[in-house]
Amino acid sequence: MENNFLSLIKTRRSIRAYKAEPVPAEALDAVLEAGTYAPTGGGRQSPTIIAITDLKYRQEIAKLNAEVMGSSTDPYYGAPVVVLVLADGGASTFVEDGSCVLENMMLAAHALGLGTVWVHREREIFDSEKGKALLREWKLPETLRGVGAIALGYPTREAGQPAARKQNYIVRI
Ligand SMILES: Cc1cc2nc3c(=O)[nH]c(=O)nc-3n(C[C@H](O)[C@H](O)[C@H](O)COP(=O)(O)O)c2cc1C
Repeated sequence: MENNFLSLIKTRRSIRAYKAEPVPAEALDAVLEAGTYAPTGGGRQSPTIIAITDLKYRQEIAKLNAEVMGSSTDPYYGAPVVVLVLADGGASTFVEDGSCVLENMMLAAHALGLGTVWVHREREIFDSEKGKALLREWKLPETLRGVGAIALGYPTREAGQPAARKQNYIVRI
């Protein structure tokens, strides 16, 4: 069956090289809003979305993420925007809730011609003292736990083809 939304799902690819060009405010707002419409366990809306465009914090979060990896490269691939998704650690579904938010934003961005890639290690960052200090600076509760992030921006080149889907991905009973 073909349909624009199904084809959007199939053509989204992780983007790992970005133009420096900023993301227009209207497009960024639309991506962030799409995140807020994700389903959440019990309708609790446990996630908090943090959009970082400020250069100082953009550099700081890249440094903290790279430190977890033990590397010095930019884990967000030079993207002009990094969107962090944290969620209330007291919610039993915080990981699932945040993951749905991340996927909604990745698909919305793709629909608008923007590229994304899920970048991990937000859990380690925001469980650490340095991450908690950032939360205090942003006046956010320290009960928030990291779920993931997306790098967001315009891709420098066309995305490649997806890997073949594994056999037996779907089982019908
Ligand atoms: C939970 C999760 C964590 C990921 N972490 C990273 C990451 O830290 N860095 C990265 O470049 N890609 C990361 N990815 C992207 C995957 O590598 C990517 O989705 C996968 O290779 C399939 O490629 P596609 O997204 O183009 O279909 C992550 C994806 C998921 C779902």
